Amino acid sequence: MKALVLCGGSGTRLRPITHTMAKQLVPIANKPVLFYGLEAIKAAGVEDVGIVVGETAKEIIQAVGDGSKWGINVTYVQQDEPLGLAHAVMVAEPFLGDDDFVMYLGDNLIKEGITSLVEQFRQNRPNSQILLASVKEPERFGVAELASGKVVKLVEKPENPASDLALVGVYMFDGHIMEAVKAIKPSGRGELEITDAIQWLIDQGLVVDPHIIEGWWKDTGRLEDMLEANRIMLDTLEARNEGYVCSESNVVGMVVVEKGAEIVNSTVRGPAIIGEGTKIVNSFIGPFTSIYYGVEITGSEIEHSIILENSTVTDISGRIEDSLIGQNVIVERSPLKPAAYRLMLGDNSRIGIL
Ligand code: G1P
Repeated sequence: MKALVLCGGSGTRLRPITHTMAKQLVPIANKPVLFYGLEAIKAAGVEDVGIVVGETAKEIIQAVGDGSKWGINVTYVQQDEPLGLAHAVMVAEPFLGDDDFVMYLGDNLIKEGITSLVEQFRQNRPNSQILLASVKEPERFGVAELASGKVVKLVEKPENPASDLALVGVYMFDGHIMEAVKAIKPSGRGELEITDAIQWLIDQGLVVDPHIIEGWWKDTGRLEDMLEANRIMLDTLEARNEGYVCSESNVVGMVVVEKGAEIVNSTVRGPAIIGEGTKIVNSFIGPFTSIYYGVEITGSEIEHSIILENSTVTDISGRIEDSLIGQNVIVERSPLKPAAYRLMLGDNSRIGIL
């Protein structure tokens, strides 16, 4: 069995962060979201992994390399245009042949991994196994209609969903899917939808097994989803201190202090993670916060947020909450007169001022 991990897409819902980075590499609890998927694939015993890359190919290749870090063997497949998930399967045909494979969307996170699901697929040998999860806004996803435990209809982002069961971004297929992706036509959004390809399998009378997952799952495409994913994954970590915490600081709850990080005269209340070489000085870091590497937080309060590498936050009087701050960002108090907000924000930025 092989795995096909999809890392194309332009991440429009996470702009401006995704103007400069692949959405699959945004860290959740200081680990790129894609890495959780690769770990889950390896844990399920699958080592032959194709990664479909698009315009962010360079970054993904740089981050994952040959996969040896995970004990997997990675083949890169270039998708020149983002023409849909089924199109990605089509361009991956030279890698997939007619082998069974698990397809994993690189921005999806499934807390309990995929080991038992892959196992089930191997035992039952349907033509496809899809994962479904009950969600609040099914219209944002592919939606399944079931009757007596069988999938009767799948619709991509329906205006009037027939159920609240969303297609999770992990699918298992046998070789028949290759025929399906070639048979379907582009959808209204101009993409070859994997949802339509699976519907094609159903229409041919092939076996598509639904599996409703009860555990936590997230498509991390939006800020609020990233923050929720961060909350859930921080809760799975165990406290450790590989850095320096001065005696005046107060570190409570599940806090990970990574190598070379310094916490000086500050309070850190977990769950939280402080990345390599990051400095927290005269500050408060509240629960559900992930601060990546090389960051400096001075004289400020941050809670329920994700701060990416090499950014600085200095002397901010109000508490920063529910925020995602990108790489190399400077947030500081302006000493200049006249007193004014002075901003340099990327396209599609969002700020909330007191
Ligand atoms: C894609 C699929 C959709 C599925 C979702 C899961 O949506 O088309 O059926 O429910 O992934 O993350 P997209 O991320 O392309 O909007």
